[in-house]
Amino acid sequence: MENTQSSNILLCITGSIAAYKSADLARLFIKNGHNIRILMTDSACEFITPLTMQAISGNSVHRNLLDESAEQAMGHIELAKWADIILIAPCSAETISRLSSGRADDLLGAVILASKAQIYIAPAMNMNMWANIATQNNVESLRHRAMIFIGPSKGEQACGDNGYGRMSEPEEIYETIQMSENKLLNGKKIIVTAGPTREQIDPVRFISNNSSGKMGFALAEAASKSGADVTLIAGPVSLECSDQILRIDVNTAAEMYSESKKLIVDADIFIGCAAVADYSPIIQNQNKIKKSSSKDLQISLKKNIDIISSLSKEYPHKKFMGFCAETENVEEHAKIKLVEKGLDFIVANDVSKKDIGFDSDFNEISVFTKESHTHLQKASKNLLAIQLINMLSKDNQFIH
Ligand code: PMT
Repeated sequence: MENTQSSNILLCITGSIAAYKSADLARLFIKNGHNIRILMTDSACEFITPLTMQAISGNSVHRNLLDESAEQAMGHIELAKWADIILIAPCSAETISRLSSGRADDLLGAVILASKAQIYIAPAMNMNMWANIATQNNVESLRHRAMIFIGPSKGEQACGDNGYGRMSEPEEIYETIQMSENKLLNGKKIIVTAGPTREQIDPVRFISNNSSGKMGFALAEAASKSGADVTLIAGPVSLECSDQILRIDVNTAAEMYSESKKLIVDADIFIGCAAVADYSPIIQNQNKIKKSSSKDLQISLKKNIDIISSLSKEYPHKKFMGFCAETENVEEHAKIKLVEKGLDFIVANDVSKKDIGFDSDFNEISVFTKESHTHLQKASKNLLAIQLINMLSKDNQFIH
């Protein structure tokens, strides 16, 4: 996303192997016209040299709380006042803990306490350290102080573990901050559907699919960071969303339809990312169906209502973004669904591939409108979600 105005960014680097990515991050902000200054903790200097960051930023690196060269020797106050935005990337578990208890015995802690700037935190640590209740309690307390967390991402870690703890990629951090600062969807009401639906056959069996909800949840988070008032209608998934999002959990396609129909009345945009079951059993047995030794089991299915199609036809002046999950001729099917379902955007993804689509943290998508076609290369679902929300917010019929 292009930069709408240049800001003073204070990039704070703490002790983590991910510190090498801070150099790219600094470059990205400079390339997009922002003024950047660097603050490094002592442990950050074990991973990347202040000289490297000085060369990239064109400014000397701030390291000491007591700085004789600063005006009135109060470097922390000057830095705190200078920054429009403070980004701590990477942010270690130790730093999160120190910030949570409001420590001011080093430059970073003092600047954070003294500043009124928006603070963004991109954590980086071992997955167990991130998941630890002590860290999670600290994160919660910083969120209550309005600090915005970006990531961490899931993936292979320097220690060999695989899980949530990697610092998000520089582009994702940059785009999230742009989106969050620009707030192009301020005041807009957005409904996002996510995950699968479950159509019960009997009390213990159901028809469903492999949707994890990751793509839909990433869209809900991106829309919320962009200033929208987001309601997330989620099928049965094991994901969490941030407190700013109103979440409604459903099981069946019928429940998803009924919630969507109620909420669409006041909404501006509907994003249908859920993998809604097209069919459900005509009869739902009250008791578990017994296995018959002699006969095969036949289950008759009825067609479910097409949620997005029915809403777009009832509310033609609202915006609708649908998804298209196919295993062959993906783009052709997407173009047909765009028209048949009465959508403004359709996002096509190939769900035959193991490394994208269902349940993966990544996706590769093509976005169609009636006039355009945009291909977005394989990337994290978080980054793609930001790009999709940017497309929606830039849609000129939409910005008033
Ligand atoms: O959840 P993840 O694991 O992250 O995976 C993401 C995803 C692959 C589920 C997602 O990217 C995706 O493709 N979602 C749409 C899945 C789907 O149902 O596609 P479809 O081509 O069958 O449906 C087209 C559109 O109609 C979708 O917007 C769908 O939400 C909507 N629909 C479909 C059936 C129905 N009864 N009602 C609907 O509203």
